[in-house]
Amino acid sequence: MKENRAQFATKIGVVAVTVGSAVGLGNIWRFPFEAGSNGGGAFLLVNLLFVFLIGVPVICAEFIIGRHTGANVRAAFRQLAPGQKWGFVGYIGILASVLILSFYSVVAGWTMEYIVRSFTGFGGTGRSLEGEFDAFASSGWRPVMWTLLFLLCNYWILARGVEKGIERMANIMMPALFLLLLVFCINSLTLPEAGKGLRFLFYPDFSKLTAKGVLNAMGQAFFSLSLGLGGLITYSSYFKRHTPLMKTAALTAALDSLVAIMAGVIIFPAVFSFGQQPAAGPKLVFEVLPAIFGSMTGGAVWSVLFFVLLFLASLTSTVSMSEISIAYLTEEMHMGRRGATRLNIGVAMVLGTVCALSFGCLGHLTVGGLTVFGLFDYLASNILLPVGGMLISFFAGHRLERSVLDSELLSSSRRPGRLEVLAVRLIVVSLKWIAPACIFVVFLFGLGLF
Ligand code: TRP
Repeated sequence: MKENRAQFATKIGVVAVTVGSAVGLGNIWRFPFEAGSNGGGAFLLVNLLFVFLIGVPVICAEFIIGRHTGANVRAAFRQLAPGQKWGFVGYIGILASVLILSFYSVVAGWTMEYIVRSFTGFGGTGRSLEGEFDAFASSGWRPVMWTLLFLLCNYWILARGVEKGIERMANIMMPALFLLLLVFCINSLTLPEAGKGLRFLFYPDFSKLTAKGVLNAMGQAFFSLSLGLGGLITYSSYFKRHTPLMKTAALTAALDSLVAIMAGVIIFPAVFSFGQQPAAGPKLVFEVLPAIFGSMTGGAVWSVLFFVLLFLASLTSTVSMSEISIAYLTEEMHMGRRGATRLNIGVAMVLGTVCALSFGCLGHLTVGGLTVFGLFDYLASNILLPVGGMLISFFAGHRLERSVLDSELLSSSRRPGRLEVLAVRLIVVSLKWIAPACIFVVFLFGLGLF
């Protein structure tokens, strides 16, 4: 391991940045609309299954690869499998991370618009909010402006480097977001149709879940955990030797799922109480939340707080996406950090503009019924991330020495207990067989190939 690379300063910082990368729009924006479009409870259950059966082991695989080599994605694979073609997993990661950064920034831009609107007031209540969001998202220059502004914020943080920029922000923001979500959960539970919303979220009705829905649940698991494109390889290359990998992986998955479930508890009671549609798609949260705030005392204050924190949570996530390309560009292509950041953000600005306009003047540009925005999301989340995850888990399971897996997974304890040894065994079995096979089968069915 190279000793001159940056490292995260504190133990809590390690968890905070990993959770900070995981928790973002994926939990609060993407999870509710995916669950809403794919049958609610059944989607949640299948999603959780993927998170713990596949997600946790693959997080561990990324951690092992990253910390063992202390290198960026491409160099890590080159070091572990010299002369072999595994380095292209790194390219998948870079491609997917740029696609995600582009459409993600559009949604983060919406949250910025909604910070402003929290001050000026939303135009309607309940159903009439639908027109309001559509009018904004299709208005052309405004969503584009926010997308670009958001990417500039990213640039500002990224150029400052790993420790100062990312870690400090994640430490402060994550607990604040969590507390605020708790308040909103309690508020939503007092709404008139709370029971109906909770039933929708928690009662699994498998007749509503299609093979495509199962693929979406898997894509959501990967997306939400920031998994499959080596983001966590990059982050864990900054971990210290004694950081407990299994605990960090399990805690990340648990907290990440908890936040998604909390978002569901906030959104679905409101959907039914205000007569809205759970299957509204990407705009769901942006129509439901203003309705919630409108019904709360001091709604404007809550609204500002919420969208500010959502904006910050998006930043800690996008920063982790960019770090994948930046680590590659600086260490493999020998670019300066500033130049690498500029290139990454610049490409995302161009693609992000196209994504933002796909809700307006480029809306007619579709592939298989998906706009550019939808296509980027589908390609990245449902195809590239799972393929990346499959390759990473296969690599860790079959190409790495068992002694490497053991020593990395057990690095924090001198004398591992029985439970730890069992956990290691389970993770290895999942990496070798369960995760690759599961991902492959879900693919066959979900893409309609079978
Ligand atoms: N997990 C983040 C979210 O839920 C998004 C994200 C950050 C991500 N980094 C990633 C997704 C890397 C895939 C890969 O909002």
